Amino acid sequence: MTTQTIQTEAKAKAKAVARAKKLVPDLSVRLGSTPATKFRGNPDIFGRLVEDHDMHRALFSMIEETSGTSPERKKLFKELVRDIKAHASAEEQALWSTVMRNPKTTEDARHAVSEHKELDEMAADLAARDMASPAWLRRFKKMKDEYLHHIREEEQEQFLAAQKHLSSSDVTHMKRVFNARKLEEKASVKIEKKIKLK
Ligand SMILES: [Fe+2]
Ligand SMILES: [Fe+2]
Repeated sequence: MTTQTIQTEAKAKAKAVARAKKLVPDLSVRLGSTPATKFRGNPDIFGRLVEDHDMHRALFSMIEETSGTSPERKKLFKELVRDIKAHASAEEQALWSTVMRNPKTTEDARHAVSEHKELDEMAADLAARDMASPAWLRRFKKMKDEYLHHIREEEQEQFLAAQKHLSSSDVTHMKRVFNARKLEEKASVKIEKKIKLK
């Protein structure tokens, strides 16, 4: 890896963390090391998606530093869920719909989209439960594990498979579509509340 690549990646990660930190500036962010990916800092849709993933990683770690029904926990959880939902919908519209259409990558897209659905249900379950109970934090950590697994797989597997069949103009165009769709989705996103029984 060249020095320039390392700097571009570090800058991209710092930008994502700063976006999260802006919400509650005095909370520390313990991001730790993140799984290796060749996409961080790229000017295409994949780099843009990793930027959101890093911001979500930061928000998950910040929420773990909060307690009970504190205003910080409420604010960060709401923002995390709204951002993940808008990200997932825009990702499906800008990237996975096209990737799904290619028989060689249908399964990769299907995998990512089905995990979005599971994560959506986990978020609705958390939103319906008492934030002050220790069980809430236990369930929250489960959602965190599930989400970190999802984005690691995207960054290390599904994005790679998708990229093989896309041109550089495709991935530049997709970034524009993603940005426009994410804004729209975020403006209208609703946090569902629904207990998950299993
Ligand atoms: Fe994603
Ligand atoms: Fe995703």
